[in-house]
Formats: sequence, structure tokens, C-alpha cells
Amino acid sequence: MSNVAIVTGGTRGIGRQIAVTLAKQGYDIAINYRNENDDLESIKEEIKKEGRKIYTYECDVSNFENTEEFIKKVIEEFGQIDVLVNNAGITKDGLLMRMKKEDFEGVIDVNLIGTFNITRNVIPYMIKAKKGRIVNISSVVGVSGNAGQTNYSASKAGIIGFSKSLAKEVASRNITVNCVAPGFIQTKMTEVLKDEVKNEIMNQIPLKRFGTVQDVANLVRFLVSEESSYITGQVINIDGGMLM
Ligand SMILES: NC(=O)c1ccc[n+]([C@@H]2O[C@H](COP(=O)([O-])OP(=O)(O)OC[C@H]3O[C@@H](n4cnc5c(N)ncnc54)[C@H](OP(=O)(O)O)[C@@H]3O)[C@@H](O)[C@H]2O)c1
Repeated sequence: MSNVAIVTGGTRGIGRQIAVTLAKQGYDIAINYRNENDDLESIKEEIKKEGRKIYTYECDVSNFENTEEFIKKVIEEFGQIDVLVNNAGITKDGLLMRMKKEDFEGVIDVNLIGTFNITRNVIPYMIKAKKGRIVNISSVVGVSGNAGQTNYSASKAGIIGFSKSLAKEVASRNITVNCVAPGFIQTKMTEVLKDEVKNEIMNQIPLKRFGTVQDVANLVRFLVSEESSYITGQVINIDGGMLM
């Protein structure tokens, strides 16, 4: 049987490239989606083109019951889960002075509680199998903070604490848990930023380019591979040197 990877938010952006990259490594793929759209259809085609199976399920990661159902279905479909990549995430930026409570809670619900919801449902299967790789997508701003992103930075810092604690809990079961902290990666999430903000960010990047989704996917591919078996509880920045 092939190894199986779940990638949340795998319909587009970073998650999509991680899903395709892991399919190229021989993984069958499970992703969630929120709306049936062209992105969903095209990712199914792309994974199938790699000769791998893909399972898709409608699931909002912030809803615990929904994630429970999603993971049960993945097990019914594939019988095992070897890799989990918690990638689904949102932003609702604004200065704290003007931030609504719903905007703070909304971001925490998807990014941090969503990571808990999915992981909580996957971990019993990994513990039983006595193996597993979990990669959680944090952000450089979860380490450094960023004006206008108190909600997002808190969620991404929370993911780091969550990952380190879980890494300690499950290390004896041969399960590794690591975080990837991207800087500025070109996706729909960042294309909405004004040019002046993008220029300001570029000035802080020693390698003088924005990251690509493949840059992040390459790191995830390494973290789920056999070669990374002695790495756990780490936060690996992938940001062109933005944060050193
Ligand atoms: N881009 C960057 O510069 C950057 C930097 C640091 C960290 N990151 C992190 O990397 C991850 C991916 O970012 P991206 O730039 O690829 O974002 P993106 O293009 O906006 O894609 C986000 C993905 O998450 C899914 N998603 C959002 N809310 C969800 C929910 N409640 N339930 C299930 N799925 C949900 C989206 O699904 P729908 O299509 O249904 O909306 C989409 O597939 C995020 O965690 C983000 O915080 C990104």
C-alpha cells in the first residue's frame, strides 16, 4: 500500500504545491475543500496525472465534528495516515485598536484551533501505527510579530507552542512534529497586499526575491522524508533570510 498524506487547504497556494510535490514522491493524497470550484477539479487532475490517488472531502477545519468526519473518511478510503500537513490558514489584518473580536477569534479558530482539530483526530492512528510525520505551517510573524497582525501572529505563535509540546508527547512513538515558518510567499494570500507594502517587505529580504510555493514544498518534502528522522520540535524559517 502507498503512503498517505493529508494536506489541509490543499486546493490552492502553498498547500496545493505541497500536495503535488508529495504525490510526486509516491504519496496518495487527501485534501479538504470548502467549495466545489475549478481549483478543486484541477488539483484532482494534477494528482491523478502523477499516478496517485486523491481523496477530497468538504471540511471546514475550524469545525471539530467536521474534521472528525473528514479523518474517519480518509481512514475508510486509504486505511492509514502517514503524513499530516496542517496548512489551511487565513488572515484578517488590522491594527488592534480597530480589530473586532470576531476578526481575532476567526483567525484563531481556523489557524490554531483548526490545527488542533485535525491533529487531534489524526494522532490516534499515528500512535497506533507507531510512526508519523506532522508538519505545521506557521509563519515568520509567529516568531517576530508584525504590526497589523496580532490575531494572525498569535495563531502562528500558538502553532509553534502546540507543535513543540506535541513533539515531546509523541516522540517515543516515532512521530515527529515540526513547524515551517515561511516569510513572504507569492500566493493569493499575499497578492492582495499593496505594492508599497510588498516593496517594504522586499527591503527586508537579503536574498532579494519573494518565495515560491515550491520553495516551501521542498522543505516539507524533506521534513516528511526518512532523511529528517532525527529532527523534531523545530521551527524552520523559509524566508530568504528575513529572520536570522
Ligand atoms: N503566503 C505567504 O506568504 C505565507 C507566509 C507565511 C505563512 N503562510 C501560511 O501558509 C498557509 C497557506 O497559505 P497560502 O498563502 O497558500 O494561502 P491561500 O492561497 O489563501 O490558501 C489557503 C488555503 O487554506 C484553505 N482554508 C482557509 N480557511 C479554511 C477553513 N476554515 N477550513 C478549511 N480550509 C481552509 C483555503 O481553502 P478555500 O479555497 O476554501 O479558501 C485554501 O486552500 C497558511 O497557513 C498561511 O498562513 C503563508
